Amino acid sequence: MLNYLKKHYFYALKFFKLNLQKNKIMRFSYFLKKAVFYLFNKPIIIKEAELDYLKILVPGWFEPGHLYCIDYAIKNLNSDKPILEIGTFAGLSTNIILHFLKKYNKNNLLYTTDWYLNNIKDEDKICDLNNARLACDYLKESFIRNVKTFHPKANILSSDLASDDFFAAWDKNEIKNLHGGSFKPKGEISFAYIDGNHAYEFAKRDFENVDKLLISGGFLLFDDSADYTNWGSKKLAKEVAKSGNYTLIRKNPHYFLRKK
Ligand SMILES: C[S@@+](CC[C@H](N)C(=O)[O-])C[C@H]1O[C@@H](n2cnc3c(N)ncnc32)[C@H](O)[C@@H]1O
Repeated sequence: MLNYLKKHYFYALKFFKLNLQKNKIMRFSYFLKKAVFYLFNKPIIIKEAELDYLKILVPGWFEPGHLYCIDYAIKNLNSDKPILEIGTFAGLSTNIILHFLKKYNKNNLLYTTDWYLNNIKDEDKICDLNNARLACDYLKESFIRNVKTFHPKANILSSDLASDDFFAAWDKNEIKNLHGGSFKPKGEISFAYIDGNHAYEFAKRDFENVDKLLISGGFLLFDDSADYTNWGSKKLAKEVAKSGNYTLIRKNPHYFLRKK
């Protein structure tokens, strides 16, 4: 019995050590790929003083290089059709888009959708929360408050639907607006920022839905798509760039494209 336990303990330890090593190697290879990428493709990082406090006050995963892309897209919008953001989290990127709309005197409507971490399970443990699902409400309320606080007059309609359901309602159904009332998402769009689920199948469906609505000359920004990342969104962005239907404006470091 003792030998049996020893043997299994030994294999478990070996497995754990191997995994630890694998993780270390993967992390090292990620940083190496990133370093090489930055050596040849230094992202353009612009400064925007009005956003300095916002970036401290509103939590999020905003990639510094996106500032250049969003500024560029909004400055060069060739239409007054709406903008679409998939994946707002607490509203950092949303407020950044709204900031540039105001800066360039553009009145384009901003549609947003996020399911506010709807994949959290009741039993997940988050500090003293009785039910982990309360965190979804917390995040959604934070988003609403962050938009209301920093851009109270914004031309924005927001949904809490999964992106598939949001697109299913397009041109068809009235859905709840998080800022009050309801709305029907409709028509074409001039710029899409895709930052929802980064797994290939999800990102691809988001792209296919966006592609049907995006006007010629419209802009497309894929989050987490830089060549050194391992996300499905990277695989997808590369395919879109190669499709011949989009011009790659820049990898900054993530794929920023314009529809032909
Ligand atoms: C990386 S965060 C977005 C970060 C945000 N854009 C920022 O810069 O701070 C991804 C968000 O996508 C949302 N999300 C994930 N899968 C989704 C889906 N299928 N439909 C809608 N939202 C989704 C998550 O709830 C999460 O808030």
